[in-house]
Amino acid sequence: MTSLRSIPVAPKALPLVGHLIPLLRNPLEFLNSLPAHGELVRIQLGPFTMVVICDPELTRQALIDDRVFDKGGPIFDRVREVVGNDGLASCPYSAHRRLRRLAQPAFHPTRFPDYTKAMSTCIEEVAGSWRAGQILDVPTEMMTITSKVTASTLFSGALPSGELGPVLNDVKTFFDGFYQRMFMISPLDRLPTSGNRSHVRACTRLRDAFDQIIAQHRTEGVDHGDLLSALIVAHDPDDDSPGMTDAEISDTIVTFFLAGTETTAAALAWALDLLARHPQIEQRLHAEVDTVLDGARATHTDLPRLELTQRIITETLRLRPPGWIFTRTVTADTRLGGYLLPAGSSVVYSPYLIHHRPDLYDNPESFDPDRWDPQRPQPPRHALLPFAVGARKCIGDTFGMTEATLALATITARWRLEHVPGQQVRPALGLALRPRRLQMQATPRTDAQVSHQLPTARP
Ligand code: HEM
Repeated sequence: MTSLRSIPVAPKALPLVGHLIPLLRNPLEFLNSLPAHGELVRIQLGPFTMVVICDPELTRQALIDDRVFDKGGPIFDRVREVVGNDGLASCPYSAHRRLRRLAQPAFHPTRFPDYTKAMSTCIEEVAGSWRAGQILDVPTEMMTITSKVTASTLFSGALPSGELGPVLNDVKTFFDGFYQRMFMISPLDRLPTSGNRSHVRACTRLRDAFDQIIAQHRTEGVDHGDLLSALIVAHDPDDDSPGMTDAEISDTIVTFFLAGTETTAAALAWALDLLARHPQIEQRLHAEVDTVLDGARATHTDLPRLELTQRIITETLRLRPPGWIFTRTVTADTRLGGYLLPAGSSVVYSPYLIHHRPDLYDNPESFDPDRWDPQRPQPPRHALLPFAVGARKCIGDTFGMTEATLALATITARWRLEHVPGQQVRPALGLALRPRRLQMQATPRTDAQVSHQLPTARP
């Protein structure tokens, strides 16, 4: 048994700032360099020491033991500023089980046909609005799809269309400021800079808008088939107390909005980028969507037959996991691997780092959806964790996969998207890993599709 000090330190720490510069400048390369130094590696961020878990089995162990490896550290401190302490994704272990039991019914499979109907409509609204030859800002278009989907599955369209735009802008402002603030020393984030001010204003406006909708739903007392209705009627079978308070519902709604929009949008944008770079896979996808959808937009019943589409999404989530880095706080002295982590230690886990280990994946940098073909030998267990594992696993995993699959199928059935020449697509690092700029030109796949709207969903 050894102590934190015996954990190897990542090389090239600078005085005072430690590893802050590579972490801010090129965090993906930095993360990928760490496994060479050990299963656990210490990094220094200014005065703070963090331990990065570089091994898949140790990552799993930490995630399974969510009492000891509790939510905390810079990412969740920032999330709590917005979501409060009762947000499902950021609440401590002590509050989590009850909140999760109350939120889980909202994701029961019986509710999915309603959700997927709303998803198909939103996807069609956006993909149907593009014009032949249009240059699309792909991350923005994908964010429009997923924000609309989140709003309509949460509130069944309770948000008047005029109010959706400002809400979506506030969500964007929140995400834009997030990553910088995560590593900002606390007093700096309170300076009255325009960035800090607009971040705070966006958060306040979002809360106000969501609170109003919750009050309206409560007053109506009807199950609209949306996520919010499920939260309002939820009660805990292990507990006599009534279900969620208004404050808890409000925190949970904000959490769903923040956790569900940018992640799924990022996955879709990366999938379209990768497909345009791999024409043979794109052709096979076209063959699949043409056969399965036969000119209609994708719906719930098509999902089992959209096999390649789903493998493409899975491989995109491996190569470019939107949830790429997370922190935990150690709440009691514990062992991890051969080391003792004292209570109070800060720990980092990274799906990106695990997904890119060459000992877990052949050619980890290559885009190969057929890795996930069940006929082929599968990558080791625990090597894939885009939605994490354990009790804090993403509650929206099926929701996100379903939405991404329907969107990718509907878009590619109708459009071929090609890169605008000369651009370099680089990752933008925020709460989610997404392409910084990705402009693509939309070309209709057949002449017939130029002049006809897609038929409405088949029964
Ligand atoms: C492709 C899309 C998505 C990805 C890659 C993703 C990824 C993740 C990951 C990695 C976590 C664990 C975070 C941690 O360990 O600290 C998580 C948690 C969570 N996600 Fe997602 N997510 C996606 C979509 C969604 C959607 C659509 C929703 C809601 C509608 C959602 C809601 C949540 C919530 C509430 C948690 C916290 C769960 C808990 O602690 O019990 N996510 N997500």
